Amino acid sequence: MSLRITVSDIRTRKADGERFAALTAYDVVTARLADEAGIPILLVGDSLGMVVLGHDSTIPVTLDAMIHHTQAVVRGAKRALIVADLPFMTYQISAERALESAGRCIQEGGAQAVKLEGGRAMASTIGRVTSAGIPVMAHLGLTPQSIHQLGGYKVQGKTSAQARAVIEDAFAIEAAGAFAVVLECVPAELAGWITRHVSIPTIGIGSGPGCDAEIQVVSDILGWSSDFVPRHARRYAKLAEAAAAAIRAYDEDVRARRFPTEKESISLPVEVLREIEGGFPNTG
Ligand code: KIV
Repeated sequence: MSLRITVSDIRTRKADGERFAALTAYDVVTARLADEAGIPILLVGDSLGMVVLGHDSTIPVTLDAMIHHTQAVVRGAKRALIVADLPFMTYQISAERALESAGRCIQEGGAQAVKLEGGRAMASTIGRVTSAGIPVMAHLGLTPQSIHQLGGYKVQGKTSAQARAVIEDAFAIEAAGAFAVVLECVPAELAGWITRHVSIPTIGIGSGPGCDAEIQVVSDILGWSSDFVPRHARRYAKLAEAAAAAIRAYDEDVRARRFPTEKESISLPVEVLREIEGGFPNTG
C-alpha cells in the first residue's frame, strides 16, 4: 500500500491552516534529500529546461524529457506527492491531447498529479483531465510558457484589470477541479486575497507570505547555479561555490600527483605481482 501524501492530504492542510513548503526536483538525489526533509510536494517543473538542460526558457522541454526526470524523482522520494509539469504544447492544443500527455506522466512517469499553466482558457481542459482521475495543479500569474506573450519574466496582476483577470482565473480553475494552484509573481495582497477566497491551497512563488504554501526552484535555494538569483528566492546554501572549490582542488591534486595515493588504490595479490614482475612465464 502506498504511503505517499495524497491530494486530499494537501487539501486538508489548507483546511487545518497548516502551511507547507513545496520544492522542485529533477533527479533522484535531490528527491531523496527533499523527501527525507519532509517536503510534501515535489514538482518536476519544466524549469528543468533552464536549470538542468541549459536552455534559456522552459519552452524546449519535451514530454519525454519530463517523463524521464519524473521517473528519477519518483524513485528518489517515497513519501512526497510527485507532480509532473506538462511541457509547452503538450496540453494547449486540445483537452484530449492534455489527457494523453497527463496520462503518460502518470503511467510512464509514475507521478501522482500534473501541473499546467493557464486559467479560464484551461478550465475545460482541467475538467477533462481531473474527470479522468488525474489530479491537476493549476499555475497562474507569471506563466513562463507564455513568456513571449507576457514580454518577459514580469510581475502579473498589478493593474486592476490584471488583478481581476487573475482572480477570475483562480475561481475558474477552482470550479474546474484543480486541487491546488501555483501563484507565481503576483503582488502579495492579490495572492493573499485569492488565498482567502478559494477553497484549494495556493502555493506561492514570488507572491508574498500570504499563500497557503510556498514553492521554490531547488537550485535557487541551494545556490546551485552560480549566476542569477531571482529576487523572490533566498539562498540557504552555496553549493555551486563549494562544488567549484572541490573540483579545483581535485584538479590540482591530480596534476601535482597527490591523488590518487595508495589509500585510494587496489593492490595486486603478492603472487600475481611476482608473476608480472617475472614476465608471465606461462603465457605466450
Ligand atoms: O517549472 C517550475 O519550476 C515551476 C515552478 C516555478 C512553480 O513551475
